[in-house]
Amino acid sequence: MIPLMHPALVRTQAFINGDWYSAVSQKTFAVNNPATGELIAQVADLSSLDAQHAIESAAIAQPVWAQKTAKERSILLRRWFDLVMENQADLAQILTAEQGKPIAESMAEIAYGASYIEWFAEQAKRINGDIIPPSRSNQRISVLQQPVGVVATITPWNFPNAMLARKLAPALAAGCTVVAKPAAETPFSALALAQLAQQAGIPAGVINIVTSSDAPAIGAEFTGHPAVRKISFTGSTAVGKLLIQQCAADVKRITLELGGNAPFIVFDDADIDAAVAGAMVAKFRNAGQTCVCANRFYVQRSIYNAFSAKLSAAMQELCVGNGVNEQVSVGPLISAAAIQKVQQLVDDAIAKGAVVSCQIPVNIEKGYFYPPTLLTNVSVDSDLLEAEIFGPVAALIPFDTEADVIAQANCSVYGLAAYCYTRDYQRIQRLTEELQTGMLGINTGLISNEMAPFGGIKQSGWGREGSIYGLDDYLNIKYINESF
Ligand code: SIN
Repeated sequence: MIPLMHPALVRTQAFINGDWYSAVSQKTFAVNNPATGELIAQVADLSSLDAQHAIESAAIAQPVWAQKTAKERSILLRRWFDLVMENQADLAQILTAEQGKPIAESMAEIAYGASYIEWFAEQAKRINGDIIPPSRSNQRISVLQQPVGVVATITPWNFPNAMLARKLAPALAAGCTVVAKPAAETPFSALALAQLAQQAGIPAGVINIVTSSDAPAIGAEFTGHPAVRKISFTGSTAVGKLLIQQCAADVKRITLELGGNAPFIVFDDADIDAAVAGAMVAKFRNAGQTCVCANRFYVQRSIYNAFSAKLSAAMQELCVGNGVNEQVSVGPLISAAAIQKVQQLVDDAIAKGAVVSCQIPVNIEKGYFYPPTLLTNVSVDSDLLEAEIFGPVAALIPFDTEADVIAQANCSVYGLAAYCYTRDYQRIQRLTEELQTGMLGINTGLISNEMAPFGGIKQSGWGREGSIYGLDDYLNIKYINESF
C-alpha cells in the first residue's frame, strides 16, 4: 500500500458525472509499481460503451459550466489549486508508486501541474473579445471567444499529473468540459486530481476520468463521437498520426504534443560546468523519459574530452533505485519493454563504434532499472540519433563548426526542444533564428513552466500548452458583423 495521510486519495474506479464508476463489464486491469513489480491495485477497465456514458455526461455539463461567469470558474480552479498543493506530499507518493520517479521529482511535478491550474485560474478572467474598426460607419465588427465544447484528452505515463493538469486547467478556464483517458500504467494520479476537483466544488460532469487498458477503443470512441469537439493528446508521433486520421472524419480540432529528439549543443566558449549541470537535468530528469530530454549531445571538438570527463564525473553522483528513497535520483523505466528498447538502441550504437565511457551500476533484482550510461564516439548513423531514447543514456558526438552543428541538429523529423550552451551573443541570435524547434533553452537545461508556450514543430506536434497561447486551442472565434 502507498503510505498516505489521506489514503482515500487512491481510487480504483473511474470517475464519471461526479460518481465513482465501475465498468459495465465489471472488468479491471492491474497497475504495478515499476520499481518493485508489485501490484498497486486493480482499476476499472472501461469499454467504449462506458466512454460514451462519460462523453454524454460531459456534454450535458458543458453548457451549464460555460454559463458560469469567468470569475466563478476562476474561483473554483483556484480552490482546486489550493487543494492540490495541500495534498502535494500524498499526490507525490501516489505518483512515485505508479510511475517510479524519485520522490523529489514527484513533489516537483505536483507543483508543476498545479502551477497550470493556478495560472489558468487567473487567465480565465482574461478571455476577452475584440472590437475591430469597420469599413463602414454604420457597421460594427466584433469578435467573441467561446468554448469549443467537450474536450477529450489522452495523456501519457511519464507525467501523469502535470500533463493532465496542463490540459484540464485551460479547458475548464475556457468553459469546456473534459473526458480524460490517463495512461493505463498510471491512472491513480488522474483519479486523485479528479477527486480534489470535486472537493473544490467543480460540478459533476465537468471532469470525467475514463480508466481503461484498451487505448485504441477509447481513442476511437473519443475521436468518433460527435459530441467531442476537440482532442488533446500527449504521446507518440505514431499515435498522433492515427488520431489526426480519426479526427478527419468530422473535422475535430486536435492539439498534439508528440515525440522529440532534442539536440543539446555545447560550444567551445561555453561555461563547461554550467553545461554539465544543464545536461544532467536535460538528460536524467525522470530517468530520461521526457519528450524534451536531451537526446543528442553535440560537443565542439576542442572541449569534447573535457565535457565528457566532467559529465562522467557528475554521473557518478547518480543514485539509481526505488524513488521512495530520498537519496535516489534515477528511478526505474516504466516497463520491461522500455528497457529492451533502450538496450537495442545502445547495442546498435556500440555495433557502430560507440564506446561506453561510463555506466552507473544497478544492483537491484526487481523492477525495471536501466543503468545511466554515457556513450562517446557515437557514429552519426546510429539509430539513437533518430529515435527518442526515452532512457538514461547520453550520446556524445563531436562537431567542428557552427554551421555543421546547426545542420545536424535540424536533421530530424522532430522539432520539440533544443538546448545550446555558449557565451557568444551574436551566435545566440543566429541559433535562435536557425534552429528548427518549438522551444529553445539557451544556457539552461530546464525550459518547462506554466507561463511559457510548450509545444513543437514538424512531427513534434500542433498547438501550444501553457501560457496565453495555451487557451487558444480551447476557444472558437466567432466574428459578428452588425449593421445599424
Ligand atoms: C513531456 O515529456 O511531454 C513533458 C515534459 C515537460 O513538461 O517538461
